[in-house]
Amino acid sequence: MTISTCPFTSAIALTCSSCKKAYPFSSIQTFALCCNQPLVVTYNYSVKLSKASLLHQPDSLWRYAAMLPVIDPQHIVTLGEGMTPVYPLHKMTNRYGLADVLLKDESCNPTGSFKARGLSVAVSKAKELGITKCIIPTAGNAGGALAAYCANAGIGCTVVMPRHTPAVFKQECLLYGANLVLVDGLIHDCAQKAMEINADKCYFDVSTLKEPYRLEGKKTMGYEIAEQLNWQLPDVIIYPAGGGTGLIGIWKAFKEMQLLGWIDGPLPRMIAVQSAQCAPLLYAQKDIRHWKSHFTPQPTIANGLAVPYPFGMTMMLAVLNESGGMALALSEAEIIDGVKEIARNEGLLIAPEGAATWKAYVHLSRNHAILPSEKVLLLNTGSGYKYLDNYSYT
Ligand SMILES: Cc1ncc(COP(=O)(O)O)c(C=O)c1O
Repeated sequence: MTISTCPFTSAIALTCSSCKKAYPFSSIQTFALCCNQPLVVTYNYSVKLSKASLLHQPDSLWRYAAMLPVIDPQHIVTLGEGMTPVYPLHKMTNRYGLADVLLKDESCNPTGSFKARGLSVAVSKAKELGITKCIIPTAGNAGGALAAYCANAGIGCTVVMPRHTPAVFKQECLLYGANLVLVDGLIHDCAQKAMEINADKCYFDVSTLKEPYRLEGKKTMGYEIAEQLNWQLPDVIIYPAGGGTGLIGIWKAFKEMQLLGWIDGPLPRMIAVQSAQCAPLLYAQKDIRHWKSHFTPQPTIANGLAVPYPFGMTMMLAVLNESGGMALALSEAEIIDGVKEIARNEGLLIAPEGAATWKAYVHLSRNHAILPSEKVLLLNTGSGYKYLDNYSYT
């Protein structure tokens, strides 16, 4: 696909998210060895970049190429990701007597989830850096997206996935030509297996936040939310958090747009929803030092939320604290109920992760943690069609 973008990136460095030590932008880096924390891409924010320049940009996330890490547009690997629709859930809010709420529908992305954003940017950067093989531990969606973008780029791909993941997530990887490894356990067990496979470091490890580029793709959700809402941000954003790249990425976008002079005024409260089966954020919010010993992670119907020990925990907590947000967890029954309600009332079959944001909105509105006057945006992060194996029909 040919694409017309800004002929440059404003990226200048990779920076440790903790101590801010700078690493060279041009070399292959994974995470910040200085603090064992994620690396983030930093840009020259004093560059003259106007919102009006977006008028001439493509109708995909690559419209923000000046704030993405790819240097040469020829390396862009795109399947048409981004610029997903935002619409009100009128039927549901009328039924519940709640104030209007917006849904940004990421199921419209290639491979049916928002993971396409991160993997389009990470695989583009991998191609630019001359990488020939990638590996990923995944709860499902990220594996399919990596497989698709690697297929398009001609890059080898190995996906390590929990065995209990619905069949379609496995089949799509195989159809895209990836090498699929199944593991008994959750994503942290897959990460362990991926490390073993990559013992000689011949793969580029695309694990969540263990390389800096997926975050850049995910942050484009924040740019789009601002642009699609005419640069007036919502008061509250509700996001289904697993590894946290979306949560951290959207917040990064808001901070960048402030520095670029694209937005002003208060930023949204960022609310992270998890499954009660695996809710490390809840425990870490209460006890940052000992949270890992406070819970036993279980699989969930919302596969993407089963991330017991996220590498980006410190960054996620910082977003919740700084934005005045919070984390909450929902039962499996509530999540399934949310999927069914939205399907029956709105005609949308959304991912269980996305349905969790709707149920969280209902809870928080009833508890007056969200006021009727507040503008709220939910993220549906994926397509419900990939999860059909998770439901039993009686
Ligand atoms: C549909 C869906 N929603 C949410 C998540 C969680 O995303 P993140 O790890 O960026 O927090 C995932 C991760 O697999 C997912 O597939």
